[in-house]
Amino acid sequence: MSKKKRIIVQLDQKTINKIAAGEVVERPASVVKELVENSIDAQATEISIFIEGYGLDLIRVIDNGIGMNSQDAALAWKSHTTSKLKAIEDLDSIASLGFRGEALASIASVSMMEIITREENALTGTIVRIKGGNLELIEERECSVGTSIIIRNLFYNVPARKKFMKTPTTELGHIMEIANRQALIHPEIHFKLQHNKATLLNSPRSSNPIEPFISIFGADFAKQMLPVNFEKDGIQITGFTSAPSLSRASRDHEMLYVNKRYIRSKTISEAIEEAYKTLLMKHRYPVTLLNINIESSKVDVNIHPTKREVRFSESREIYDIVQEAITHTLENNELWRESKGLLKSSSSVAASAQTRLDGTVSDTTITPQSNGKSSALLKPISSVDTKLRFDESSSVLNETSALVISPTAVALSDTFWIRPLGQAHLLYILCESSEGIAVVDIHATHERIMYEHLLELYHNANFVTQELLQPIAFNLSTEERLFLEENIPQLEKVGINLEHFGGNTFIIRRLPVVMDLLKTTEDIKNLIDEMRKDVANIPDVNERLDLILKTMACHSVVRSGDPVSIEKTIAILEQLSACKQPFTCPHGRPTIIRITEKDLEKEFGRIV
Ligand SMILES: Nc1ncnc2c1ncn2[C@@H]1O[C@H](COP(=O)(O)OP(=O)(O)OP(=O)(O)O)[C@@H](O)[C@H]1O
Ligand SMILES: [Mg+2]
Repeated sequence: MSKKKRIIVQLDQKTINKIAAGEVVERPASVVKELVENSIDAQATEISIFIEGYGLDLIRVIDNGIGMNSQDAALAWKSHTTSKLKAIEDLDSIASLGFRGEALASIASVSMMEIITREENALTGTIVRIKGGNLELIEERECSVGTSIIIRNLFYNVPARKKFMKTPTTELGHIMEIANRQALIHPEIHFKLQHNKATLLNSPRSSNPIEPFISIFGADFAKQMLPVNFEKDGIQITGFTSAPSLSRASRDHEMLYVNKRYIRSKTISEAIEEAYKTLLMKHRYPVTLLNINIESSKVDVNIHPTKREVRFSESREIYDIVQEAITHTLENNELWRESKGLLKSSSSVAASAQTRLDGTVSDTTITPQSNGKSSALLKPISSVDTKLRFDESSSVLNETSALVISPTAVALSDTFWIRPLGQAHLLYILCESSEGIAVVDIHATHERIMYEHLLELYHNANFVTQELLQPIAFNLSTEERLFLEENIPQLEKVGINLEHFGGNTFIIRRLPVVMDLLKTTEDIKNLIDEMRKDVANIPDVNERLDLILKTMACHSVVRSGDPVSIEKTIAILEQLSACKQPFTCPHGRPTIIRITEKDLEKEFGRIV
């Protein structure tokens, strides 16, 4: 059988453009991205985006930027035409969003494009019409200063691409994402996005960088964002990052920019997450809006077809600086949790009471949800007296004074103090605070203190161990044994000395002094078992050690259900106030929940 002969031909420019368009113009949102970036490069202060038919029928972007003269307008839509690069050296220090001179050409080859544009001092403007990459019309036209680009019938000549569009709402979602990302980092630009008659974004100009965030995510979200402002070695990190009270189940809300260019970066995401390590629960991610301002020669933006990724010449340095910036922000802000659930449930009781008083539902009675726990709250005090107390021996009750159990208040920051009143459910410490009331989870608090203490012992290689009265021998499953064997060196570093006794049997003769709560074989087995579960599949040794320390912290402190004396409570709170991250336990659960006086007044109907 004769083989088919291969003939190499040079493709014509239109075919080349159409192929290139496959990379640049993946979907309607890509068109919006390119047009908006051009408007930003043209120094616009107002950018309006109009969409019809989810972008396939019409995309129109109008800006009030510098515009183009008629020669430039005649060239702009051709391939490899750009005003942003002059020479090859410029590629090494790109300050504009565009630089390839390819976007308009790619879009023009798969749509019907109309460019209407005028420079500031020009008497008239220009209109250019291109269909599928062919020039149809170019002439003078009255118009306002700036540029308006209309894209109709996107992908009309590439039906295969059109077929691969997702549902209309998905496409619209992508468009909104593109507009929001730009609005968030450009408070100096008024952004509008309209689909058919609906306004999807309106972010007016503002000198306050949080304003776009408020327009897009709402004031409730914005309230929980902490400003980031950090500079080191000529690199500035600015933006906002969430208090641990605000987190998401995915990385979608980690919004990263380099010189205001939106990017995805595993390195930067990991640096941010490292800073939140003990503040957020597993698989929770912060909301972060971060711009890295760096000399353009230190970052290569020309490595990805849609410029979504960049390469730093010093990526380790960037990692360290970002982590330091976020840590700095988190350490310099008060991150106490506000109670939400608690107040919500009480307002629903208030609401049903209201219904009854109105007489609208006359025979409704207020019954607490019958889950046992909440009904206990409404029982007369005498029947729950064992649950609200401090050790009687140590409580101070002065009949003539107000009902204040502890005479001592502990300052947790310059402005926030708490005064313990009693212990509920043998776990929560109820407190009066400088701003209302507060509830302390004594176990979470103790765990935080212990974790930071263990970290310090570890860093100073200072784990003091003590001989157990009786060595503890225990048998493990093969899986547990393999884990232990693999981690013996790590465990030794933290003062847990294990001896392999043969088969699946191990012996512990010494333990760190701080772990004196562990007494029985069962205690030790529980500890090992939990460590194994946490550490399984974590290849990084440092991360493993950190998890081991967290588990140790959890097993070295009073469990919920133990009564604590008032002196001990005060001592624990004082230690908490000295912690670096006092707001959560090492696993990210809050240590203290605050309810402000204002919230109480609202809930009790004293203010509306
Ligand atoms: N809204 C606009 N206002 C003023 N000039 C514009 C506008 N849009 C495009 N231009 C001009 O058209 C040129 C070509 O735009 P195009 O987007 O194709 O390329 P680019 O922005 O230079 O590079 P890239 O392909 O990386 O986006 C730009 O360099 C710019 O001079
Ligand atoms: Mg461009």
